[in-house]
Amino acid sequence: MDEALNFYFSSSKIDESRKPIIYEIVAGVVRWKLYLEWLLSHHIRKKVKKKIENLLKLTLYQVEFMKKPAYHVVHEAVSFAKSRWGEEIGGFVNAVLRNHMRFRKNYSPPDLSVKYSFPTWLVKRWQKRFGDEVEHLLSHLNSPSLFGVRVNPKKISSDEVIKYFENVGIQVQKGRYLEYALYVNKLTPVLKSDLFKLQLIYIQDEASQLVSEALEVKEGGKVLDACCGYGTKTSHILDMYAEKCKVIALDKSGRKVKKVSPQALRVIGDIFSIPFKKDSFDTILLDAPCSSLGIIQKHPEIKWRISESDIERFSEIQVSLLKKLWETLKPGGTLIYSVCSFEPEETERVITELINTEEVLVEKVFPFVEGSFFISIPHRTGMDGFFIAKMKKARK
Ligand SMILES: C[S@@+](CC[C@H](N)C(=O)[O-])C[C@H]1O[C@@H](n2cnc3c(N)ncnc32)[C@H](O)[C@@H]1O
Repeated sequence: MDEALNFYFSSSKIDESRKPIIYEIVAGVVRWKLYLEWLLSHHIRKKVKKKIENLLKLTLYQVEFMKKPAYHVVHEAVSFAKSRWGEEIGGFVNAVLRNHMRFRKNYSPPDLSVKYSFPTWLVKRWQKRFGDEVEHLLSHLNSPSLFGVRVNPKKISSDEVIKYFENVGIQVQKGRYLEYALYVNKLTPVLKSDLFKLQLIYIQDEASQLVSEALEVKEGGKVLDACCGYGTKTSHILDMYAEKCKVIALDKSGRKVKKVSPQALRVIGDIFSIPFKKDSFDTILLDAPCSSLGIIQKHPEIKWRISESDIERFSEIQVSLLKKLWETLKPGGTLIYSVCSFEPEETERVITELINTEEVLVEKVFPFVEGSFFISIPHRTGMDGFFIAKMKKARK
């Protein structure tokens, strides 16, 4: 969704000041898709063209969730429909919206899936796991997200960043675990700030920041960031350890690798035909491809894109990637496995599969976790849904 909107913004002449409201409406319509479709189903009996349905959804979203004056938003939508698509369609849009306004108080969602606008399979899956708590989870994932900021403490202190943001009207909260993690309530002014432009701060959720904290790095050692993507975690690793070790960033996507800091040795390559010898690395990070169900709050389109069978598919890929990378880890070295998901198949089960075939010593990833792994369930932690595990390879 972000990529599509950025593409639209860059290829159109939309005024800068209008972008946040467009973003809010598009994200809201995607988030509340099922609920809005259910509202419309009371007034539309036959299939309508996508563009008309979209106009109706974005009008209902503004009325129901942004508390915009209905007469104004409805009038705007009807005028737009008439001028673009003619009197007949304008009349249809008018009838649907006015009917909705007349009867909206009578509707009550038939189930949690419609009420919170989540696919049925996902509601059932989480209901089985979390029981009644599922409503907290669903409503948390529908609430506006705070944005994680990573401060580079070698360049600026968190207190200085807090002062800077508060002076320009941005609300800031301190991180839950990390001194240099902050949360802000607005993203656009942060992205426009000098602090961001000068790379004193980065946008990164605290759960994701914890990944680099989990790494065990040796003086003069070799660290492989095996699925570096655009390099969010590589940049954190470099900020922490560039003077201490050699960082290699690998991804199969050349487009992504090109965006990674050149301070790392950047390699375009596929883990399944890995261009490194056995026992090459002291430390490996596998931030694996996953369902991304942990970041639905920020990226609502994920809940519509992923199906239940994808979870199993990702799990199999994760196990294969992990086993392949394990070969390139030196005896005595550590591997951190992370995913932005909290589904058992992509988390604990992946580690169990490795343990079943390799000599793995699972270590407690942080002193504060119960058990060995870090697992963030979004409504309990206020962070993205995330999983981090730390494993050591037994010495021969
Ligand atoms: C979760 S993303 C990584 C995000 C990144 N670590 C970050 O912090 O921004 C997973 C990445 O794995 C890469 N990937 C998937 N399969 C791969 C493979 N077989 N070999 C190398 N990279 C792979 C994808 O291109 C994607 O960038």
